[in-house]
This record gives sequence, structure tokens and C-alpha cells, in this order.
Amino acid sequence: MIGIFDSGVGGLTVVREVLKQLPNQPIIYFGDTARTPYGNKGPKTIIRYSQENTDFLLSKGASVIVIGCNTASAVAVEALREKHPDVPILEVITPAVSRAVAVTKNKKIGVIGTRATIASQIYTKKIQEIDSSIKVFSAACPLFVPLVEENWLTRPETKMIARRYLTDFKNVGIDTLILGCTHYPLLKEVISAKIGKRVVLVDSAEEVVKEITNYELRITNKEGDSKFYFSDLTEQVGKISARWLGGKVDLEETNFETK
Ligand code: DGL
Repeated sequence: MIGIFDSGVGGLTVVREVLKQLPNQPIIYFGDTARTPYGNKGPKTIIRYSQENTDFLLSKGASVIVIGCNTASAVAVEALREKHPDVPILEVITPAVSRAVAVTKNKKIGVIGTRATIASQIYTKKIQEIDSSIKVFSAACPLFVPLVEENWLTRPETKMIARRYLTDFKNVGIDTLILGCTHYPLLKEVISAKIGKRVVLVDSAEEVVKEITNYELRITNKEGDSKFYFSDLTEQVGKISARWLGGKVDLEETNFETK
């Protein structure tokens, strides 16, 4: 089984892509809604939470781990790989970087994400490892996550905030923008309207699922239903899950706890 974890509901955008690209692939999802958001936390905490989430998914039978969360991918992947050298652990950053580098023509790439993701500078490092002549411009957009969770996807307030966050990118003339956070694909319409239709938006959820297909052969257990676990199962989590996955799904609260 593929195990996907995220700091909360955001990783459901990765699940949505799995359903689209690999419709027969059952998954185990863990959303750490009790401790979300990760994006404003420090590396030590994010690594600890990510290790607990990974252990939980492995205990439920996952054989491949996908870190659905950009923040956890940015900060915790090395620690997780060190602890589980035999488990394939995929993250959402490398596939998005490869795509953005392939797409840019003017070698100006923008990256948006949470504070922790942007502070890690992981996107800049990975892009410039491939091509050091590419200029990378990045900005944290912390207000986007709550706006998406409130389903304020096209409200005037959201458009105003998007303009504020994206103006600098427009001024420097990027031709590619990486949506480096689970929630941002839901704002594609507003982001594209503000940044300009000619700027290519790279969706990290979409890219990581293309990567999963490479591991598909190693995932032997294709039987059974997908399972969705949350560390705090509120009504809002139920609503968002149904909205993003296009129908009601069975969700379970787990007694997984912070130690
Ligand atoms: N899932 C996080 C990410 O992709 C966003 C929400 C959070 O800050 O926890 O960075």
C-alpha cells in the first residue's frame, strides 16, 4: 500500500491526484489535524511529527511512504530516510523542481509555500543544483492555507491577498511558478489571474503522483480499500474531505498520540 501523510487535510490534494492518475491504487492516508499547521513550526518539531506519522503508516501496512506535505518534505525527508533506509520515501519537492526546470524558458522561477518551506530554501538549492544560472524568487504565503480551508477560493479578499503576495513575482518577470504547498492547487484560478496566464503553474501534487507510478510495481498489495486516518476528526475535516475528494469517504480518528 502507498502511505501518504500530511500535516492535516492538505495532502488530500495528493490523494485526489492518485485517484485521477492511479484509480485502482488503494492508499492509507494520515492527516495530522490535531497538530496542524506545520508551516509555522520549527524543524525539530516538524521532524518529530513526521517520524511519528511515518511510523503510524508503516504500522498500518504501508510499503511506500509519500510525504504529501511540502513543509515536511522540505524539512524532514533526510531524517526519515535515515531512520527507514529500506522504505522508499517520496517527497513532493524534487518532482516539482524537475518539472519547473524543464518548463522555464527565461530561467526565472518563482516558488510559494509556507514559512518553514521557504525558510528551508530547499527549492532554491535543488533548482540551482540542476542549473545554477536559474534565478529563483520565493515568498511565504501563510494566509493561503486558512483561506483554502474556509473554501474562500475566489472571494475578493482572497484575490486581494493573492495580488499582494504575487506582485513582486510579476515585477521580476518569472515565467514559471511552483505551488509549493498542498493547499495552493485549489487557488490555481486566482493565482493564475493575478500572476498572468502566461506563467506556468507547477503543481507539486500532480508531479509527485507521476513519480509514484514508477514505484507502482513494487507495491504488491493492491487489494482492499483506501483508509483515511486523522488525529482529530472534526466536522470541518469531513466537509473538506468530501469536497476535495468529490464525495463522502470513510474517515477514522486514530488514537495516535504525541509522546
Ligand atoms: N501541508 C502544508 C504544506 O504543504 C500546509 C499546511 C501546514 O502548514 O501544515 O506545506
